[in-house]
Amino acid sequence: MPGDPLRTKFIAETYLDDPVQYSNVRNMFGYTGTYKGKRISVQGSGMGIPSLAIYTTELIKEYGVKTIYRVGSCGGMSPDVKIRDVILGQAGTTDSSIIQNTFGPGMYYSPIADFGLLDSAYHTAQEMNIKTKVGNIFAADRFYNDELDIHKLIDYGVLATEMETSGLYLLAAKHHIRALTILTVSDHLLTGEALSAKERETSFDEMARLSLETAVK
Ligand code: ADE
Repeated sequence: MPGDPLRTKFIAETYLDDPVQYSNVRNMFGYTGTYKGKRISVQGSGMGIPSLAIYTTELIKEYGVKTIYRVGSCGGMSPDVKIRDVILGQAGTTDSSIIQNTFGPGMYYSPIADFGLLDSAYHTAQEMNIKTKVGNIFAADRFYNDELDIHKLIDYGVLATEMETSGLYLLAAKHHIRALTILTVSDHLLTGEALSAKERETSFDEMARLSLETAVK
């Protein structure tokens, strides 16, 4: 489940055999094909938890999906992560209100990855010679936010920011399905470094192949 529908199309057309587009509603493409003989769908999520929540809920309720890998880019936060690193999201922190909306005030639920998928992706990455970092991902409610104390999040061990993971893990827990986020660091909040468009493509390739290889294990 990439955020960007054009990346969805790219993954389906590049890596899947016999991809068939099953949805183009709102241009949020979805394809089903096979990878190494196993049926796999690739569905765009859009950006942010509200958009991801629509497609995740529909995949689970209407299509019976039991396992979701989110693949996407993230902004590095920790000095321990560098541009192009691949990160496996162990847990999701967020300033989105989705947790409070679900549990009410005073309850701070911790959305986490499925351990089986995390373990499998970690070891699959080793077999593929892809180095990974594993840790906490911050799903920001706003992409542009000069009021956020990123240094505090870094100090508490958060590796990187994107806009979806804690929502995905919360919904996975609600519906008793398995989910894992696999990210590549496309920019870094401390250094201001950013990948070029070409570099984004190559690092995206590693992440897409890792998710597909883990999915067919
Ligand atoms: N996705 C990629 N880079 C990001 C950033 N800096 N903030 C939020 N989401 C991102």
